[in-house]
Amino acid sequence: MDRLQIRGGRPLNGEIEISGAKNSALKLMVACLLTPEPLQLSNMPDLSDTRFLSQLLATLGVEVFWPKGASTCHLNAAELTSTIAPYEQVRKMRASFNVLGPLLARSGHATVSLPGGCAIGARPVDLHLKAFEAMGADLLVEQGYVKAAAIHGLKGAHVNFPFPSVGATEHAMLAATLAKGETILENAAREPEIADLANCLNAMGAKITGAGTDTIRITGVESLSGTSHAVMPDRIEAGTYAMAAAAAGGDVTLTHAPVDALGAAISALRKAGVTVDADPEAGTIRVRRNGTRLRSVDIDTQPHPGFPTDLQAQFMALVSMADGTSIIRENIFENRFMHAPELSRLGANITVRGREAVVKGVEHLQGAPVMATDLRASVSLVIAGLAAEGETVVNRIYHLDRGFEGLDRKLSACGADVTRLSE
Ligand code: UD1
Repeated sequence: MDRLQIRGGRPLNGEIEISGAKNSALKLMVACLLTPEPLQLSNMPDLSDTRFLSQLLATLGVEVFWPKGASTCHLNAAELTSTIAPYEQVRKMRASFNVLGPLLARSGHATVSLPGGCAIGARPVDLHLKAFEAMGADLLVEQGYVKAAAIHGLKGAHVNFPFPSVGATEHAMLAATLAKGETILENAAREPEIADLANCLNAMGAKITGAGTDTIRITGVESLSGTSHAVMPDRIEAGTYAMAAAAAGGDVTLTHAPVDALGAAISALRKAGVTVDADPEAGTIRVRRNGTRLRSVDIDTQPHPGFPTDLQAQFMALVSMADGTSIIRENIFENRFMHAPELSRLGANITVRGREAVVKGVEHLQGAPVMATDLRASVSLVIAGLAAEGETVVNRIYHLDRGFEGLDRKLSACGADVTRLSE
């Protein structure tokens, strides 16, 4: 199992190009199931999650052409040969569950394993299923599988989500494109990836308005066609490198960055005393910190446009070295502080009380061996390791490979001493 060795204490200087967004790419890839025509996705992040999904799509009959290292992925679901997504595949990556809606919409039936829990909490799919039921699907949950049928097709429905779930909003939107009549999604999630997906679906001939707001209207169409679409840049990757530069110190410019999608994170960094110059038109974010100690900042994770839960761990690593005490409240997932005990191994002073973590800033972190538990938690350990004195070894970095394209390469190019140790 690969590990990452980091010799900390070196500032970061240079440029980092932000890749396509994992969370957008996964839903865009699934959209290929809605049409017999080819879907071409550029700016694709080459990650274990996106590669994994391309394998699942291939088992459903999708022709996938995506050579190693290529940034464009060609998907062609001219004919589907299966409508079954087995446990082994859905268990490994939760977003695989989102093949259910498109399969149901296109073929009238699908059998997809429930994703099960994960390290950051129970993560049920009840909101997804309620949306499909409202659209007229017959659902049977049996032996860990959802068996769904809509023999006469899905029909438009009025869905009011009790919580703005990102996955359920995207999933319902995908399926509603081919439903008969109008679907209205209320209290929909507003994450930028939802607008990216709607833009691609509209280019395929769908009729979606309001994506990016809390009310999305979808008028179903008979069929969708193929298109070419560029995946939006990854706001979580950009926020992560901004926090890495802030933690290690130095002067880093992020390019191809989705500046407008990062308002809450940029504001939190500024409150911490980091100099951030963001240029939405150029797509650049310059992050600087030279010598000055960070200030403590309280954050509260919220659905977009609030502070993203996917940057909570990274921000905790940052303020663990701030002057003062920061209170970090996690409102989206019930168990998303797995990184706290690992950060404490590096000398951070963190007490977790339910959904709150009290972070008393220390002057310096010290390197230590640590264990990655999930994707965002792992990268928070990398950030802490970059700032810590001495050597940090992050174990189980396969989590990082799920979501960060070329992390060691991008950091090394900015002067970090980071080595991947393979066994
Ligand atoms: C997506 C992102 C993930 C991010 C999260 C919140 C992808 C691939 N993943 O995950 O990186 O952290 O949004 O921004 O895009 N919930 C229910 N019932 C449901 C669905 C969700 O109770 O049917 C709960 C979840 O357990 C969780 C909360 O709602 O506590 C948020 O989940 P959701 O917004 O659906 O996140 P994901 O789409 O899974």
